[in-house]
Amino acid sequence: MIILGIESSCDETAAAVVADGREVLSSVVASQIQVHHPYGGVVPELASRKHIEAIVPVVHTALKEADIDKKDIDAVAVTQGPGLVGALLVGFSFAKAYARSLQRPLIGLNHLEGHINSVFLEETSPPKFPFVALLVSGGHTSIYLVQSHTRTELLGQTRDDAAGEAFDKVAKMLALGYPGGAVISDLSRKGNPEKINFPRPYLNKDQFDFSFSGIKTAVNRYLQTHPKTYKAEIPDIVASFQQAVTDVLAYKLIKAARLQNCCHAALVGGVAANPCLRDKVMEQARKYQITCHIPPIEYCGDNAAMIAATGYYHLQSGNRATHLDEDVYSRADYRNILKTSSS
Ligand code: KG4
Ligand code: ZN
Repeated sequence: MIILGIESSCDETAAAVVADGREVLSSVVASQIQVHHPYGGVVPELASRKHIEAIVPVVHTALKEADIDKKDIDAVAVTQGPGLVGALLVGFSFAKAYARSLQRPLIGLNHLEGHINSVFLEETSPPKFPFVALLVSGGHTSIYLVQSHTRTELLGQTRDDAAGEAFDKVAKMLALGYPGGAVISDLSRKGNPEKINFPRPYLNKDQFDFSFSGIKTAVNRYLQTHPKTYKAEIPDIVASFQQAVTDVLAYKLIKAARLQNCCHAALVGGVAANPCLRDKVMEQARKYQITCHIPPIEYCGDNAAMIAATGYYHLQSGNRATHLDEDVYSRADYRNILKTSSS
């Protein structure tokens, strides 16, 4: 089954062609980083306008790179939410019209489920169900028990900032540019991660909620109390910040896998591109004989291959196609798609 995936939930316009949920025939991502860079964050209205400009060429490039004709597409999968409503609407409206014109089913999907299924892309030894997944992105930091490709139970999530958001905000405080995650991980290589002991907010060590606003405030306090010297210490500051955040993330993922008796775990989302986090998670997983799966860097950030793959699994499990009168949604809990363990 060949699925065209479309993703436009934030600042990336993406299209991909995926065969049978795993084989990526093409994956095209048009990033808007340069557009939002001067503002230090995503400007929703600008994002929508750029998606409108990019969506047609990006889809055409994806079909061309996959070397297929549009008639070869069996279904169209698209991100329905959560995300920026104006941005989502561009991909969703395009996908509706495209599916309708091809007379193929349309399937609207949860972006977070897409990130979770990204671990299966191009993977010859995929994780075995059930497994525990840590999703770390700019908008979410959550741990799930993944029962199947389409069934996920929330074990815990951040109570305030997402981990990626904390990276972005610390980079902004230090005027390092946007998005902050990649800049901080590059600069951290030159710094001493043990130099400043920022707090590790484990909260309850046997529960899986997170809180990153305290670390961000601690960095801010450090800058205020060292106004004359901090500029020379920036690599040490970001390396120490990264160390604190990744210590907590790696600990909670592996602890969740152990408490759930899972011998497989996964790390997904934009922050999963962070080399320090990847290494730490792999090292801790090895210690407890847990097999940890992390997608290649190109499938950590937002992409449409993960959406196409998720569409495949939903269609395979007989889930209904999306009606043309359905709409996008901004929040993950709007449709209760990824349920909490307590609900
Ligand atoms: O998954 P994603 O592309 O978009 C969302 O769904 O949010 O994640 C984007 C986030 C941003 O906050 C960005 O700073 C962060 O992922 N990120 C990183 C790295 N690369 C991207 N954070 C830490 N280290 C990185 N290397
Ligand atoms: Zn994402």
